[in-house]
Amino acid sequence: MTTWLPTLAAHGGPKYQAIARGYARAISNGELPPGERLPAHRVLARKLNVTTGTVSRAYGELERAGLVIARVGDGTYVAEPRHDASHLNITSASWTRPESDKPMPPLSPGVGPLIDLGQNVPNAVGDARSLGSILRELAADERLIGELLQYQPVAGQRSHREAGARWLARMGCGGEPESVLVTQGAQHALACVLRAVLRPGDTVFAEALSYPGIIALARQLRLNLVGIEIDNEGLIPAALDRASELLNPRALFCVPTLHNPTTATMSDTRRRAIAEIAARRNIVVIEDLVPAAMLAQQPQPLASLLPEHGIVISSFSKAVAPGMRIGYVHAPPEWVGKIVAVIRSDCWMAAPLGAEIATRWIERGEIDRLIALQRDRIHEQHVIAASELAGIPYHTGSASAHLWMPLAEPWRGAEFASALRQAGVLVKPGDSFVIGRGSAPHAVRISMSGARNPGLLREGLAIIARTLLNGPEGQYSA
Ligand SMILES: Cc1ncc(COP(=O)(O)O)c(C=O)c1O
Repeated sequence: MTTWLPTLAAHGGPKYQAIARGYARAISNGELPPGERLPAHRVLARKLNVTTGTVSRAYGELERAGLVIARVGDGTYVAEPRHDASHLNITSASWTRPESDKPMPPLSPGVGPLIDLGQNVPNAVGDARSLGSILRELAADERLIGELLQYQPVAGQRSHREAGARWLARMGCGGEPESVLVTQGAQHALACVLRAVLRPGDTVFAEALSYPGIIALARQLRLNLVGIEIDNEGLIPAALDRASELLNPRALFCVPTLHNPTTATMSDTRRRAIAEIAARRNIVVIEDLVPAAMLAQQPQPLASLLPEHGIVISSFSKAVAPGMRIGYVHAPPEWVGKIVAVIRSDCWMAAPLGAEIATRWIERGEIDRLIALQRDRIHEQHVIAASELAGIPYHTGSASAHLWMPLAEPWRGAEFASALRQAGVLVKPGDSFVIGRGSAPHAVRISMSGARNPGLLREGLAIIARTLLNGPEGQYSA
């Protein structure tokens, strides 16, 4: 049993809430790990000089928030974090990557080069040729090149911010260049926004399974990152509300459209419910629209429902070319200056040459053409998946190159990924996306666009189907 005790003086409000908040915080920051037993009601009541009724009420709050489990006649235990995506809805060609994309070396004798379905990369759809022609244009304009070689305004040149506003408007977001800042990709945008909005020790929420970039950043910035329960539409409003009551988060990071890794997209009703909670509880929502760029029909962004609390980050990375390293932030006026200050201290400004190329891509509609090609390619990949994985459940979204595959018993995610690696295929196990030290979902993410051509995708998916159906029995070695 834990000897950890909440300090009542540190929390205001009713005593039962102070006790619940104290435990909630200790559980979410890992001080009290899953399986740890909380003191018996009478013991805690004596130690804190409160009634057993107050302790029962506090434990009840924690139980409703899913943070503890009460076992009748046994005690109250810290629960495993919840991120059960098993109730997600299940929905169920010719291309080649450039030659320079060398195959990965074989893992063991007898197995060919690895087929990489682990890396989250867009398909190559002629972006190299398109970039080449812009570079030739730029090379012929010495005056412009001279300008681009100089320092620029920290938020980006006016024309680059205007192009960013146009890109974001494509996703239903904003439209005013004054609210748009240019960054070096979405991860840089996220790092700057987190540093502008949060202080070390602050609590930030995210979907219980999330993009690993937020996990790494939260660790480095000493933030208390807490995972919120998700279902087939992403964040569950009731879970967000309960956890907010207990932990009073400063911000929520979320990927409401084509979520990475589950591919879930929130309905409009769900978006409104999440936005209502954020506004009521004064939570800054950091909305990641990186995967959303792929969609032809855009859902309404959360940020558009939250004019004072919504910050959007975006980039071309999953739609066209991660090597561009250009991203955009759209922020309410209150945050613009603070984020600009972080960009300045971080890198002075995003590299203007990349921003100029991005601007030309956006202004000429070239980005729309490239994304349309990307969608066609993904459609072909879905057809291959439907045939190679026939009868095997997986989740995906229209225009998503990801398959999220929950595994039937007795497979575990990491074990399945390791068996696939031995068989020559890389995928990402569910563990990679878990916030905190909770148990990993028994699932893997398959990135179809990692395959260099349709033949390799077919082969990789066939290996996945075979390995899955053969079961783990043959995998064990001493
Ligand atoms: C959801 C999500 N957001 C942001 C990023 C980072 O994008 P960028 O390459 O622009 O930094 C990724 C990359 O995997 C991602 O999946």
